[in-house]
Amino acid sequence: FHWHLTEDQGWRFESMRYPRLTEVGSVRHGTQIDYDPTHLRPEDHGGYYTRDEMREVVSYASERGITVIPELDLPGHMLSALAAYPELGCTGGPYEVANTWGVKKDVLCVGQERTFTFLEDILTEMMDIFPSEYINIGGDEVPKDRWNACPRCRKKMAELGLSDRDGHTAGQYLQNYVTARIQKFLNAHGRKIIGWEEILEGDLAEGVTVMSWRGTGEDVDPRIWNYSSVMSPRGYMYIDRYQSHEQDREPFSIGAYLPVEQLYDYEPYKGVPEYGKERILGVQANLWTEYVNTEEYLEYMLLPRLAALSEVQWCSPDDREFPRFRESMDRHRDIYETMGLTYAKHLWGVIGLPGNEYPARSPEELSAYLDGRE
Ligand code: ACM
Ligand code: ZN
Repeated sequence: FHWHLTEDQGWRFESMRYPRLTEVGSVRHGTQIDYDPTHLRPEDHGGYYTRDEMREVVSYASERGITVIPELDLPGHMLSALAAYPELGCTGGPYEVANTWGVKKDVLCVGQERTFTFLEDILTEMMDIFPSEYINIGGDEVPKDRWNACPRCRKKMAELGLSDRDGHTAGQYLQNYVTARIQKFLNAHGRKIIGWEEILEGDLAEGVTVMSWRGTGEDVDPRIWNYSSVMSPRGYMYIDRYQSHEQDREPFSIGAYLPVEQLYDYEPYKGVPEYGKERILGVQANLWTEYVNTEEYLEYMLLPRLAALSEVQWCSPDDREFPRFRESMDRHRDIYETMGLTYAKHLWGVIGLPGNEYPARSPEELSAYLDGRE
């Protein structure tokens, strides 16, 4: 279980050393409610996990053979930390916890030592709670704008002799420097790092595990095969996407379209060279929760997609057959019902959350509906 605990829009990890991370960083003032960033629900939205709560999750998971891997997403996606401790940013702020979605230009200032002290302190607190061999350090979506304009970051680039070369920017090499420092720190504590595929940009050190999210074996940066990897391409594995084309009958979501059939059809080895196949540790589905605001909705997005994910992970491609899977879902459905779980019923011709369920449209109705949509 990969647990993404820190984001621009909220800091969810209780820290003893840095109390403002939760006092300030865990609360955003307003929330973007659809695709238009000016459409805000005005109420404060906040919350975080206490250390005891996180320990409870770790032990509950462990009793079931599941390892929890925490993510501290760095050096981008850090606006909530910057709001709490503006001295960690290049401009010094002031910053606010983001109340809109997307990628933010304000990132950690990595031209100063106190940023690394901060990161090492937080990682130390994380390691104390999470015994996992791996710690995910994020690394995705890091705009280099602030670094390029920051005297401290520019000085650091000069000291390290970084420049634009071989198709990569000095800023990307500066991110490699950050990744390598954090890797060294975690390795010294007996841990390994995982990061999103952007950490490949520039010159990534050995011994890192890379998680693809933008590409499949056919179109990801092929240098990923030099590392151990986890495959989580968004076209198949981003389960925050719509489960049907009938968006007026679905709860509002991030967009795009990922029916359970498509997730089931993912072939992790397709397009991967032999030496890369050996180093794929597994696949992962990601449920980002910008729009997923209730437990019911969460379960609706997870089930039965996680059953399909299990077959992608554990069946050889020859054993994977959608009709057989489809039939087995009738039994799984009984389990979901018995356990009182919410699940998506698209396989049974029903769309929508409980209390708001609709029969799926016929092919004719669907094409008329799609034609009539903007
Ligand atoms: C990601 O979806 N930014 C990893
Ligand atoms: Zn800076």
